[in-house]
Amino acid sequence: MNDLRILISREQIAARIAELAQQITKDFHGEQVLFVGVLKGAAVFLTDLIRQVQLDASYDFIGVSSYGNPRGPKQESIWDSTGEVRLTKDVEHSLRDKNVVLVEDILDTGLTLSFLKRLLLSHQPRRFCVAVLLDKPSRRKLAINADYVGFTIPDEFVVGYGLDYAEKYRNLPEIRVIPGVAP
Ligand code: IMP
Ligand code: MG
Repeated sequence: MNDLRILISREQIAARIAELAQQITKDFHGEQVLFVGVLKGAAVFLTDLIRQVQLDASYDFIGVSSYGNPRGPKQESIWDSTGEVRLTKDVEHSLRDKNVVLVEDILDTGLTLSFLKRLLLSHQPRRFCVAVLLDKPSRRKLAINADYVGFTIPDEFVVGYGLDYAEKYRNLPEIRVIPGVAP
């Protein structure tokens, strides 16, 4: 694993999460906020983020899986998901009238977050916004943006800090690059 190039160090991640948490604390000053993490990738980011947020906060998880080939370093179109996203675990309580921050590891094509945004907005939350650790805008297929972005990264397949390749590398403390065939 040490042969995988570091893209973002653990110090950079920690510093940026402190900034995001400060921003969220300011934006939701005095309010209750429910953070909803997308399993499994966002679990590490969510647990670090909520411990820095100074708000009356709670959290829950939601699970999805996408049909098609699993994501990997070979990011040619044939490798991408077919765009069908399926719910594997729903949130435990209604989000009606709550301030909700959906927390995801990475915004890539936008298929996952578009699906989840539509689903969660149907609960009629009071306020809804999206926080992602990483954003890969060059691969977007659907027009969706996050309200809070940790880092904007180039079109490379990354692992670590919750992100996996075939379920491996989630426990790396930094973000590393898996060399692939993508440009
Ligand atoms: P989207 O639906 O294409 O936006 O993809 C989002 C999901 O794809 C993320 O939640 C990740 O699980 C996965 N994904 C996309 N890019 C990467 C990557 O570079 N490394 C690991 N997982 C990724
Ligand atoms: Mg994910």
